[in-house]
Amino acid sequence: MANLQIANARKSYDNKQVLHGIDLHIEDGTFLVIVGPSGCGKSTLLRMIAGLEDITDGTISIDDEVVNDLEPSARGCAMVFQNYALYPHMSVEQNIGYPLKIAGVSKPERARKVAEAAALLELGDYLDRRPAQLSGGQRQRVAMGRAIVREPRLFLFDEPLSNLDAKLRVQMRIEIKRLHRRLSATSVFVTHDQVEAMTLADKLVVMNAGKVEQVGTPGEIYRAPASAFVAGFLGAPAMNFLPGKVLQQGNLHILPNTEIAVHSQELHQWTGREITIGIRPESLLLGKPSAEGIPAHVDLIEELGGSRVAYCRTDGPEIAVVMHGDLTVREGDRVSIGLLPEHLHFFEKTNGQRLGGGQASQQAQASRAMHVAFN
Ligand SMILES: Nc1ncnc2c1ncn2[C@@H]1O[C@H](COP(=O)(O)OP(=O)(O)O)[C@@H](O)[C@H]1O
Ligand SMILES: [Mg+2]
Repeated sequence: MANLQIANARKSYDNKQVLHGIDLHIEDGTFLVIVGPSGCGKSTLLRMIAGLEDITDGTISIDDEVVNDLEPSARGCAMVFQNYALYPHMSVEQNIGYPLKIAGVSKPERARKVAEAAALLELGDYLDRRPAQLSGGQRQRVAMGRAIVREPRLFLFDEPLSNLDAKLRVQMRIEIKRLHRRLSATSVFVTHDQVEAMTLADKLVVMNAGKVEQVGTPGEIYRAPASAFVAGFLGAPAMNFLPGKVLQQGNLHILPNTEIAVHSQELHQWTGREITIGIRPESLLLGKPSAEGIPAHVDLIEELGGSRVAYCRTDGPEIAVVMHGDLTVREGDRVSIGLLPEHLHFFEKTNGQRLGGGQASQQAQASRAMHVAFN
């Protein structure tokens, strides 16, 4: 397996730049997930690694060797696509063995490697079938088998689960994770689905408009998003954003008429400035109307089974609150939304950059310390 280094990688189509200098280091055996909205340049970056697109500027290195000018076949990457790209007239066995046939591997050796991959992917009973005789999940496994037999240095996945229905997508997600645990293959997995990204990644890269917004473990990024974009992109329901102003002593003015005591040293330096305050829906509490908290009325309640989400009207933006347990709040009720200072995220109002480490990250550190203590 391999490590992958991407340095200042740029891509332009017809003088229009779509990747604006990407820097990434992917260590041997890591499952790296690149997540971002449609059109942000994920597939382009993956295709540049595979050698299917020219690199306009910068370098891509695999195992410390610059591969910019290497043919795709010489790079040792295997790519799994959304549409599987299987040959319809070939059996499962032939589809999986095809890259080996092309590479001139002998028939017995081919049969051995195909059998090994098929066993790993539980496709042993389907070797004689054509793709049309398989389910979506089985086809996806054949596509993975075809990648595995080549024993590539790098696995590249371009939204391989997007064509599957919701239930199968979750199953395949777990299978891919198990497979990675067994093979420890360096992998780059691209998706627009934040749940897929959070659950699969050892290391997560959030991209936006041709740039990397943040790199970290899913937990790190969730707890301390580097920008309002990242904060809003990861998490469902999405983080609430409220306009705020920093008052004396690091207290906060939120919305037209709410003031809360935060006493944050960190906020002190932005006294008088307008900021954006981010609060995750699961970090808020609904209570009876009171002088504390944000006055609101419950507009709509969404039932999710294990929890419910209340969408609340305020004097400012709508606020989503996750309700746990059997809280008896109904649509139309007047409520007060309580917030805990340690759960607030602060962002620069205009460029959306995170302001300081933020209390949320301090708290995350405290809770990590507790985990260590319990272990
Ligand atoms: N062959 C191409 N010619 C011109 N523009 C392209 C081409 N391929 C992709 N693009 C543009 O590059 C940007 C990134 O596309 P893509 O990498 O496919 O995004 P993603 O995979 O994140 O959805 C988009 O604006 C897209 O329109
Ligand atoms: Mg794409």
